[in-house]
Amino acid sequence: MDSKLTKKPSATLTVNNKQLELPVYGGSVGPDVIDIRKLYGDGKLFTFDPGFTSTASCESQITYIDGDEGVLLYRGYPIDQLAEHSTFLEVCYLLANGELPTEAELKKFVQNITYHTMLHAQFDRFFEGFRRDAHPMAVMVGTVGALSAFYHDSTDIDDPKQRVIASHRLIAKMPTLAARAFKYSVGQPFISPRNELDYASNFLRMCFAVPAEDYKVNPVMARAMDVFMILHADHEQNASTSTVRLAGSSGANPFACIASGIACLWGPAHGGANEAALKMLEQIGTVDNIPDFIAKVKDPNSDVRLMGFGHRVYKNYDPRAKAMQKLCHQVLKEVGAEDNPLLKVAIELEKIALHDEYFVKRKLYPNIDFYSGITLRAMGFPTSMFTVLFAVARTVGWIAQWTEMMEDESQKIGRPRQVYTGAPRRDYVPVSRRS
Ligand code: CMC
Repeated sequence: MDSKLTKKPSATLTVNNKQLELPVYGGSVGPDVIDIRKLYGDGKLFTFDPGFTSTASCESQITYIDGDEGVLLYRGYPIDQLAEHSTFLEVCYLLANGELPTEAELKKFVQNITYHTMLHAQFDRFFEGFRRDAHPMAVMVGTVGALSAFYHDSTDIDDPKQRVIASHRLIAKMPTLAARAFKYSVGQPFISPRNELDYASNFLRMCFAVPAEDYKVNPVMARAMDVFMILHADHEQNASTSTVRLAGSSGANPFACIASGIACLWGPAHGGANEAALKMLEQIGTVDNIPDFIAKVKDPNSDVRLMGFGHRVYKNYDPRAKAMQKLCHQVLKEVGAEDNPLLKVAIELEKIALHDEYFVKRKLYPNIDFYSGITLRAMGFPTSMFTVLFAVARTVGWIAQWTEMMEDESQKIGRPRQVYTGAPRRDYVPVSRRS
């Protein structure tokens, strides 16, 4: 990646009566950054930013978020336009290559992906090592990491061709792995991919078809799955993407890096929030119980949170949440569940929270997970699969970010510093002399 940073007037930091000149750079849009790389060398100081709230960890040309305005762009294109007009594989091409494909480029890309949808025959035995009641995310962490053991010809990170093949393999095989994790948990036989189907239809078929019956993919559900994946495809330097980059910074192979991203995504503050949001809606049950629940959320002595609300970056309505809400209504209409009681609870909860001083003051708005759980449930997925679906969609973002890092000459192993507040140096005391 060629750097596109522009030099701005530098900043001066005065500390311990010493003045330090710090370079400032600008990107194409968004806040400028202060370059502190020489801070320790010149001033014997570190910066302190737990949770990276004000730290840009890299230069990137893939995704842009304006959290105050509620804007999300993939390679410059607004998420709502892509969700309305594009397809998931076209978005994959865009994220990976920087531009929308021509017709011929898209055809070739789709061919490359479909070529890699199958798994090594021996791979299926791998699933059998898991307990039937294993969480599908546990299965995903294990099996995606295990891809490194099956595809040695795409683990040389210094070979650009192998990097491309690894990224095609990951995008292609994730739906097959995810569908197998699902089938294994419900005790049904695995269904092989069908390459004449589009990406989303193929995935739904691998999840819901059984060998004993014909299965016809519902086009409304296939489009809903495709849009769900577009909405989740990338989100710049979030926790799981930063995990993938950090793992990759040591030179680990791409399959291992994506497995580390999946592990990070699992947590309820990140990808696990859609599962947690649906459980919360079920727990609330009916609209009458909302005031009591809101009171618990606002109680400073309770740690109850309104799941599917709030975001580290968005201090406005998450633009993905708007598209997800629309998708939710379409899917519920298709399955004849428009008066689903959980949807009623969600709509009322959103209405109340958007006007309640507690949420308004803290700029807490619905995020993508608020409506995705209800949508996925209506599509036939159990809650334990929700984060897996997020992982399938985010794989392209992870691998595009990993590739960008591999092509960045300024890339170094990620190694944060710390401020140490533990015991200073002291001498060892033998156990017989300790009181
Ligand atoms: N419900 C109630 N209060 C909240 C919530 C919430 N969902 N989120 C933040 N707050 C409050 C928090 O208690 C704090 O209040 P105070 O200043 O009085 O202590 C204030 O808002 C700031 O919270 P924070 O924890 O410092 O904010 P953060 O930027 O570290 O956290 C978050 C972001 C997403 C982890 C958090 O909003 C949260 O836990 N939300 C619920 C989980 C969720 O929906 N996660 C999905 C995120 S979107 C999908 C993804 O990208 O993975």
